[in-house]
Amino acid sequence: MYDNWEELEQSIINCKKCKLYQNRTNIVFGTGNKNADIMFIGEGPGADEDKEGEPFVGKAGKLMNEAFKGLGIKREEVYIANIVKCRPPSNRVPEEDEAVACLNYLRNQVILVKPKIIVLLGSTALKNILGKEYGITNARGKWIEKKGIMYMPTWHPAALLRDENKKIEFWKDLKEVVNKLK
Ligand code: URA
Ligand code: SF4
Repeated sequence: MYDNWEELEQSIINCKKCKLYQNRTNIVFGTGNKNADIMFIGEGPGADEDKEGEPFVGKAGKLMNEAFKGLGIKREEVYIANIVKCRPPSNRVPEEDEAVACLNYLRNQVILVKPKIIVLLGSTALKNILGKEYGITNARGKWIEKKGIMYMPTWHPAALLRDENKKIEFWKDLKEVVNKLK
């Protein structure tokens, strides 16, 4: 674990700790306010993110930005990262060994950001951060406190593209998050 961003960022530059390094264009480390109150954790980079080196810049990210705008959240005020930092082939779910290999970077990011709230975007984030016993359908929308951090599991933004109801619930969950900090 590193106690500063420079060393952490240096340590990941040529990472080959898992097989996902083979197909990546860019490592998608994370972006935003390094002292944010709210941190968002997704699954892993897609094609657009791999190309640009930034999380949530594709279709799912646009939906997230819309929700942010409606709720008065500024993208640059929060911190956004993923479970794995290199793109899984064909956007498949990260495999166990890949998530395990990459998670220490994310843990270190959480330690440095010290967020009050972590929004877990979808099943992959939920299961890797809070445990395999959790399911997103049951856990979403309910606060879980662990080691002084409040977790809000919600839908992955990509799921909203297919389901209007989930969009409403996603907004409701983010509204909870915004209200919590008031
Ligand atoms: N989906 C994710 O989980 N993360 C991204 O950065 C983009 C899409
Ligand atoms: Fe390293 Fe994470 Fe990329 Fe795997 S996904 S190569 S652990 S940075």
